[in-house]
Amino acid sequence: MPKISSKGQQMPESPIRKLVPYAEAAAAKGKIIYQLNIGQPDIKTPEIVLNAVKNHDIEVLSYSHSAGFESYREKLASYYNNTSLPVEKQDIIITTGGSEALLFTMGSITDQGDEVIIPEPFYANYNGFATASGVTIKPIQSKIEDGFALPPISEFEKLITEKTKAILICNPGNPTGYLYTKEEIQQLADLALKHDLFIVSDEVYREFAYDGVKHHSIMSIPELANHAIMVDSVSKRYSMCGARIGCLVSKNTEVIATAMKFAQARLSPPTFAQIASEAALDTPQSYFDEVIEQYTFRRDLLVKGLEKIEGVKVANPKGAFYCIAELPIANADDFAKWLLEDFEDHNETIMVAPAAGFYSTPNTGLNQVRIAYVLKKENLERALVILEKALKQYNNKA
Ligand SMILES: Cc1ncc(COP(=O)(O)O)c(C=O)c1O
Repeated sequence: MPKISSKGQQMPESPIRKLVPYAEAAAAKGKIIYQLNIGQPDIKTPEIVLNAVKNHDIEVLSYSHSAGFESYREKLASYYNNTSLPVEKQDIIITTGGSEALLFTMGSITDQGDEVIIPEPFYANYNGFATASGVTIKPIQSKIEDGFALPPISEFEKLITEKTKAILICNPGNPTGYLYTKEEIQQLADLALKHDLFIVSDEVYREFAYDGVKHHSIMSIPELANHAIMVDSVSKRYSMCGARIGCLVSKNTEVIATAMKFAQARLSPPTFAQIASEAALDTPQSYFDEVIEQYTFRRDLLVKGLEKIEGVKVANPKGAFYCIAELPIANADDFAKWLLEDFEDHNETIMVAPAAGFYSTPNTGLNQVRIAYVLKKENLERALVILEKALKQYNNKA
């Protein structure tokens, strides 16, 4: 049989999706599973979005411009301008999800063997995108004790070599929920300028900032015009993960021209989904106000609930809709599988994402899980009861 590439063999499985076969087997036996493992919001997609797709007069579903509809890019630029970011339509390439923007970014700024520094734990698919692009991730650990704040800049500096091309951050963070302060963003900017590195900021959760804390975008620093690349997406902002629309934003014209070559190779982003995403920009502020209120409520419920469970440690997230919880167990992979295969409480269980897959340092985060608070109140409350009971039973069996 022809041989699979070593790159293909090295491609990591998604820690979020790898437990799916166990969940399917449990569901086939009739078990109810509360999914705390995946960032699929249960919030309704704005009606304005769904109506735009229903009411159209398209006769030929054609390709669009490789950078995406001009009208959409113009409107998107205005959306950023409204949050004081100096983005113009020519700084934007519409992509098939933030995922493709990340791939285009790595393709445009790195060569085989180049290094990218990323604070860990980080969005697990960065591992996959790095492997696909031949990039080596240099992790720098943020700690639960510090609420996953930015590690000291001196630690970043120690990791910089002649192969370092970029620092990649996720703001607010998946899986940590950490929201970088203005000072932290400035420190990163100073470092990038000092060593002439790119700063890639994944801001797909940029609207999800709680407690009145402001989100500070990498695009807000004028001196970083040639160094900053922002990745964004409609997936979470408007609860339209299935639309598959994101974008890459940079004031660096060489970055945009290079990313455009990748964009041309895949022809264009999906047409219907661009119609939906353009309409989404007219979503009233009241939608976001309600969503933020809902997530703040769920976060408080979850964090308080977790804090009450003996041996559980959690950092209070300030943004996005995830938290990392440290559990009184040795191996979260084993625990997560056991929850699906061997545990039930009134025929119900929970699914969590073991956090080790969000670290690239081996054997790290083994006793941690990522929990997404994308479920309604009753389900979150029930999930917390199940977790407490499960931990007791799991530890008694040992
Ligand atoms: C931090 C982060 N970046 C990027 C993505 C990719 O999102 P999408 O491709 O749906 O835009 C996700 C999805 O969960 C994410 O959590």
